[in-house]
Amino acid sequence: MDLGLKGKKAIVTGGTRGIGRAVAESLAREGVDIAICARTESAVVETVNALRALGVRAFGTALDVRDREAFNSWHAAASAELGGLDIAISNVSTRPTLKGEEGWREAFETDFLQHVRFAEASLPILANGKDASLLFVSSIAATLMVLPPGESAYGTMKAALISYMGQLAAKHGSAGIRVNAVSPGPILFAGGVWDQIRQHQPDLFNRAAQMSALGRHGRPEEVADAMTFLASPKAGFITGANLRIDGAMVKTVNH
Ligand SMILES: NC(=O)c1ccc[n+]([C@@H]2O[C@H](COP(=O)([O-])OP(=O)(O)OC[C@H]3O[C@@H](n4cnc5c(N)ncnc54)[C@H](OP(=O)(O)O)[C@@H]3O)[C@@H](O)[C@H]2O)c1
Repeated sequence: MDLGLKGKKAIVTGGTRGIGRAVAESLAREGVDIAICARTESAVVETVNALRALGVRAFGTALDVRDREAFNSWHAAASAELGGLDIAISNVSTRPTLKGEEGWREAFETDFLQHVRFAEASLPILANGKDASLLFVSSIAATLMVLPPGESAYGTMKAALISYMGQLAAKHGSAGIRVNAVSPGPILFAGGVWDQIRQHQPDLFNRAAQMSALGRHGRPEEVADAMTFLASPKAGFITGANLRIDGAMVKTVNH
């Protein structure tokens, strides 16, 4: 199927590994020009080179999305370099490190407010294009009531993100902008959170695999390919949706 993505322009936060990297590569393989960011300069350079090797224009900047000024200047510069935006993917999440009320504040800043900032910067530019798509990366942690320790703020912010997504979908549909979310289950890749859990908490790692109907963790590419479809004109009537990509780890009908 031709997804109709060739020549489109995308911005992705946190594009150097895991789901962000996989979706950047998946979009690039469809002929989409890409701008990414992440904190580690060497990884940004390596990723940009890999994306360019797929035959598209690619740009990358090392920054922390929590730094509002750095984020705003990167977003403006990246959109200008690309020459507009058709696809905007808010992917980064920074798991809170602080405890108590400070931890909740940190979670709000890193797992919710930075997505709002991303959406507000992207929507006016998306409105200039055709077949525009804004995508958020949430998590099944938004609905799971049994979370790994320390994840209650993370799950709460991921739930808020889905609600925010729905409101944006209703508001911006008339401007031709579709807004959706994906909620992955446990996704395994070298250097990712489930790789750490595999090494240090093997019981939790195995339990997570067994909870999936498929008996395993997911791969970044399995999330990325669904996101690429959602971002494409072929998903033209899909907006306001939260797509669970969890191998049926959550045992409810996904309605
Ligand atoms: N992995 C899973 O099992 C899973 C499951 C459900 C949902 N998710 C969601 O999927 C999204 C991606 O997670 P992931 O596990 O694929 O990858 P990840 O290991 O969390 O890394 C994602 C990317 O974000 C960058 N990044 C992290 N913090 C950043 C910051 N403050 N500023 C700028 N860039 C930052 C990382 O590079 P640097 O470290 O160099 O900055 C990397 O490129 C997150 O929203 C996560 O909540 C993941």
